[in-house]
Amino acid sequence: MSLFLKSFARPVCSRAGSIYVRNSSVQSNVVSRTFATTKIRQVDPYSDVKVTDRFSLKGKTILVTGGARGLGFAMSKAIAQLGGNIAILDSLPEPVEEFHTLADKHNITAVYEQTDVTSQSSLESAFASVVKQTGGLNGCITAAGIALDAPFLEQPWDICQKILAVNVMGTFWTAKLVAQHLIERKQGGSMVFIASVAAQGLKVPLQTLAIYNMSKAGVKGLVGPLAVELGEAGIRVNSISPGVIASPMTDGMIWPALDDMFNNAAPMKRKGRPSDLTPTATFLLSDASEYTTGADFLITGGLHAGVSPSWLNKT
Ligand SMILES: NC(=O)c1ccc[n+]([C@@H]2O[C@H](COP(=O)([O-])OP(=O)(O)OC[C@H]3O[C@@H](n4cnc5c(N)ncnc54)[C@H](O)[C@@H]3O)[C@@H](O)[C@H]2O)c1
Repeated sequence: MSLFLKSFARPVCSRAGSIYVRNSSVQSNVVSRTFATTKIRQVDPYSDVKVTDRFSLKGKTILVTGGARGLGFAMSKAIAQLGGNIAILDSLPEPVEEFHTLADKHNITAVYEQTDVTSQSSLESAFASVVKQTGGLNGCITAAGIALDAPFLEQPWDICQKILAVNVMGTFWTAKLVAQHLIERKQGGSMVFIASVAAQGLKVPLQTLAIYNMSKAGVKGLVGPLAVELGEAGIRVNSISPGVIASPMTDGMIWPALDDMFNNAAPMKRKGRPSDLTPTATFLLSDASEYTTGADFLITGGLHAGVSPSWLNKT
């Protein structure tokens, strides 16, 4: 034991650009394996590539499901601002008016296909169409989603089945099409799924969203396996888990307890805005995140970490 401790206390020698760890004289197989002459190479430690350039999406084309409005459209607009082309699939007949301004304003390609992500024929034909129109994809955001706000015992069969079909299986089948396409292109890529704070099993008042919570846990659960399975093809897979964000979905719902939590208890003391999510979404699609995969990004104003002390003192 004394030898073991001594070896850990040995200094680490460093030289410019590399770190060398000294051989351990410890006899234990485990320790000597760990401390065998190891040269930890620091590749490109102070790169000359301008960091802002790494966030560019120029030359990339991103498929966005649920991008006709709300968070999906905000993310599509952010992609366009960074020079990326967008291909939106959404069940609405038309996207928001502003969609039609993006191509000219940012000198990009923007295509829209009315699509139901729960229908195999609709999804596959829309997918083939946008690939043809854009010349190929480099990644996706899956934001198509629906929610139901009702007590568990009042949740109806057909609506619950539909929520799972859109949120979980819509993400699954979209991801499969995109992954197959990226593998064929041999250029790697990035997939970003929109999960939710509702996927985390937190002690926030999300009880009347049972089926929605379950669906978003399913979305989050897809990230790890796909990140591992697709990593060797250079395809990264991550998710974003937003708190309550202003959008057509949440504007139509009345959640006094949840509103109170975000406006008063969350460390940032407000509900989120779409612009709170777009920098993370575009980062994950860009080369700036080339070493980031298999992660879930909680963007909740800090509510997932705890409630603010001033709110605790009042209650
Ligand atoms: N707004 C929030 O607070 C919040 C928080 C966490 C997660 N989310 C998730 O973010 C995503 C976007 O939500 P939003 O708040 O912008 O809601 P939204 O209702 O404004 O947008 C959802 C979009 O999905 C589309 N859609 C629904 N069913 C579809 C289908 N079968 N096929 C194709 N498109 C379909 C809708 O037409 C709509 O454009 C959703 O997955 C949602 O669950 C939202």
